Amino acid sequence: MIEAPPEEPRELNAALDFVRVELVSRGFETRHGRVQALAGMSLHAAPREVVAVVGPSGCGKSTLLELICKLQKPDAGTIEAGPAALMPQRDLLLPWLSAIDNAALALRARGISRVQARSIAAPWLERFGLARFEHTRPAELSGGMRQRVSFLRTLLAGKPVLALDEPFAALDAITRQEMQGWLGRVLESEPRTVILVTHDVEEAVMLGDRVVVMSPRPGHTVSEIEVPLTRPRKRTDPAVVDLRERALTALGVQA
Ligand SMILES: Nc1ncnc2c1ncn2[C@@H]1O[C@H](COP(=O)(O)OP(=O)(O)OP(=O)(O)O)[C@@H](O)[C@H]1O
Ligand SMILES: [Mg+2]
Repeated sequence: MIEAPPEEPRELNAALDFVRVELVSRGFETRHGRVQALAGMSLHAAPREVVAVVGPSGCGKSTLLELICKLQKPDAGTIEAGPAALMPQRDLLLPWLSAIDNAALALRARGISRVQARSIAAPWLERFGLARFEHTRPAELSGGMRQRVSFLRTLLAGKPVLALDEPFAALDAITRQEMQGWLGRVLESEPRTVILVTHDVEEAVMLGDRVVVMSPRPGHTVSEIEVPLTRPRKRTDPAVVDLRERALTALGVQA
């Protein structure tokens, strides 16, 4: 189990603890013409709900998260969401900073001094099993460790909504399963409203309260699957296997 301490992040405002994406469209002008990423995309997340989003490559999942985080604006439709922190698809740890300074970057961005930011981040690193790696640079961390630092940076941004973009996609299968268990435990003790983008339907069912299945580009929701299972979940649980099959079918993947 994960023990108590850390004080940050707080700025969590229950009134803004939800996501409502309503019939959103977003396209891009490119050298090869217009690319419509999203068309009529809707998605809701209730306070402290974990919504897993699965969809084929290029269907607009990353675009959706950037819209939720207000890094982009929709061409049409509406988005209402609490302040949201993005864990980007590509790990954006700065190679010249130690693990603790990378994790503390979100605090520094909020105007907190380096010394104070480190003192806030340190107990979290310990809690995330990274105490011994505080002063290690990203290149010397394992993939799973880098993702934990990256997640911590997102968490320390202190936002009530977390937008996680394929956080474990680059990891080997065993590490990925370990990290899924880890994230599930973290969210049990640090509940947030989470939009978790993944291409792994098993991951979606293991972690989500609900799975939103998207169409190929231009992306929109084709199916929503409730996951009425307690945690921790077992991959081999017939209910998990069944929900995974349903998500695969909705994706149009032949068994
Ligand atoms: N800034 C941009 N300029 C031009 N085209 C873009 C831009 N951002 C996204 N696109 C295009 O929009 C579509 C959706 O991209 P997006 O990255 O949101 O998909 P995705 O579902 O996250 O894909 P993946 O599963 O590969 O991560 C793609 O065709 C992509 O090339
Ligand atoms: Mg993406």
